[in-house]
Amino acid sequence: MLEKINLLHAEVAQSQPQSLADLESFRLQFMSKKGAFKQLSSAFNELEEVEKRHIGSQLNELKQYIQAQYNRYKQSLSAKSNAKTTPQEDYTLPPPVDTLGSRHPLSLLKHKILELFEKIGFCMVEGDEIVDDWHNFGALNFEPNHPARDMQDTFFITKSPDFLLRTHTSSVQIHVAESQALPIRTLSLGRTYRNETISARSHCMFHQVEGFYINEGVSFADLKQVLAYFIQSLFGTQVQVRLRPSYFPFTEPSTEIDITCTVCAGTGCNICKHSQWLEIGGGGMIDPQVLQNCGIDTDRYTGYAFGIGLERLAMLLHQINDLRLFTENDVRFLKQFKAYH
Ligand code: PHE
Repeated sequence: MLEKINLLHAEVAQSQPQSLADLESFRLQFMSKKGAFKQLSSAFNELEEVEKRHIGSQLNELKQYIQAQYNRYKQSLSAKSNAKTTPQEDYTLPPPVDTLGSRHPLSLLKHKILELFEKIGFCMVEGDEIVDDWHNFGALNFEPNHPARDMQDTFFITKSPDFLLRTHTSSVQIHVAESQALPIRTLSLGRTYRNETISARSHCMFHQVEGFYINEGVSFADLKQVLAYFIQSLFGTQVQVRLRPSYFPFTEPSTEIDITCTVCAGTGCNICKHSQWLEIGGGGMIDPQVLQNCGIDTDRYTGYAFGIGLERLAMLLHQINDLRLFTENDVRFLKQFKAYH
């Protein structure tokens, strides 16, 4: 009897079910009513009381061993088969549609502006974002202790020689006027930096678009005309432009550029603070001293320049009320500009 128990033990140990079907045969073979163990235990029942006492525990151990093996295989095989039945790729389905990204609202506006100015003979110069003091301030008539320097909280990179992040795109005026042949009709559009706290209304990095035209006989009327063309092409002919006297060290006369509120169409709202007008930038006739700083003969040539905040225009065009949205890269925001491709 003991020998039979050992034999069956070895047989159970050798049998290694590889699938759930194998496991069922294992159960039938060893554990069912007609299985090998049942036969052994029927034989055991026939034994004398003395023998029973001796063999009983061995038989019991075998029973537990068979049950344990069964449980072990059942667990690992059903885990495997679960993994197999998880949904497989269905290769007959049509491929997923490629989701196209959308252009950033500032890029869209940039392209639109370039297109508008290309039509009237302007060419685009991006210019450097890191400039020296002379190009950002000195050549633009900001004396070393000029109070207007304080207004443009500057990020300095190195001191003497002073290198800084340009605080306005007017620095491009100087680079171009120094190096290019006249007449010059240039548009510069790009990032500018000022050390300001980031909020819904201000940011330390923003974009400006700056246009300037230097030629014989350029007058303030040309500036008015180009601004009207630009604003009305962008917002529609119902929008009016207003020029308000102002001051910049590098233009004389200087002007603040306002447009009628595009949100309330002049009826008064909290965007225009019920004034019906919105300020979008500055401009003026380039100060002769600035032209001379670039080696231009001011007896022959005059020029105008204007600078406008790109974010400001985009906010008015798309009714965006928080400047931070432009740099946060929230796809829910960016997705909304798909239609403007
Ligand atoms: N550079 C000025 C600014 O950043 C704007 C400006 C540009 C004014 C050109 C006049 C002429 O505020």
